[in-house]
Amino acid sequence: MTLELQRHVQKDDESPFYIDELIKCRRAKRGFTDKSVPTEVVKDILSIARFAPSSSNTQPWKCYVLTGKARERVVAAAVKNFNDNHDKLTPEYPFFPEPLHEPHLSVFTKFRGQLGDAQGVERSDKESRRRDVARQFMFFGAPVGLIFTMDRKLVPASFICYGAFLQTVMLAAQGRGLDTLPQQIWSLQYQVLRKELGIPESDMVVCGMCIGYADNGLPENNIALDKFGPEKFATFLDV
Ligand SMILES: Cc1cc2nc3c(=O)[nH]c(=O)nc-3n(C[C@H](O)[C@H](O)[C@H](O)COP(=O)(O)O)c2cc1C
Repeated sequence: MTLELQRHVQKDDESPFYIDELIKCRRAKRGFTDKSVPTEVVKDILSIARFAPSSSNTQPWKCYVLTGKARERVVAAAVKNFNDNHDKLTPEYPFFPEPLHEPHLSVFTKFRGQLGDAQGVERSDKESRRRDVARQFMFFGAPVGLIFTMDRKLVPASFICYGAFLQTVMLAAQGRGLDTLPQQIWSLQYQVLRKELGIPESDMVVCGMCIGYADNGLPENNIALDKFGPEKFATFLDV
């Protein structure tokens, strides 16, 4: 276990398995320090993540790694686009059904409330909320931003593969003492990303990801979330 990982692990959370600790320690972080992450480390993470499973080994993932000037250029273009067009941006695929129904709506609303409280943003304060969303397009200060794309002709089964891949990326990062945030919100920026990164029309933007060292002093990096137990989502059948 790395020192960074040990720092996160609560004593009463200890498990005999290193992988369990990695899974429990990975939390969505929305604020990073400026400590840099060598590109070699990102390469290592992606070299491990390639072992993620995929349907018939199709490996639908493609990834753009943004650091330094490239990251700054994309952030500047995305923030400008957001500030100019925030009410017109639409993602390349729907995030949720419209309207979102129960029981999902209550969980969604509770989470948004917890996050807003931690960030000190009132739901009714549109201006603060907008500034806060703009921070998503700054990768919350993380020194590494990833943009993930996929051949748009593929169908939802490949999104399952993508989920397995993204979690593997996040765990590989966690094992190296790094923190992450998956960000589907980057799909709203597909036009900017297509232009800045030369993404072909045939590919869709699936999501982005922050990688860096979290600022764990921030309230939004310490939200206590409900995580349903298996009694809520699993049905055990024996006969
Ligand atoms: C596919 C996916 C997309 C996500 N997109 C965003 C996003 O755009 N912005 C964001 O702040 N969080 C995003 N998240 C983070 C979730 O809000 C977070 O995982 C969830 O609240 C559970 O918290 P935890 O990761 O700390 O367990 C995303 C998570 C997943 C799995």
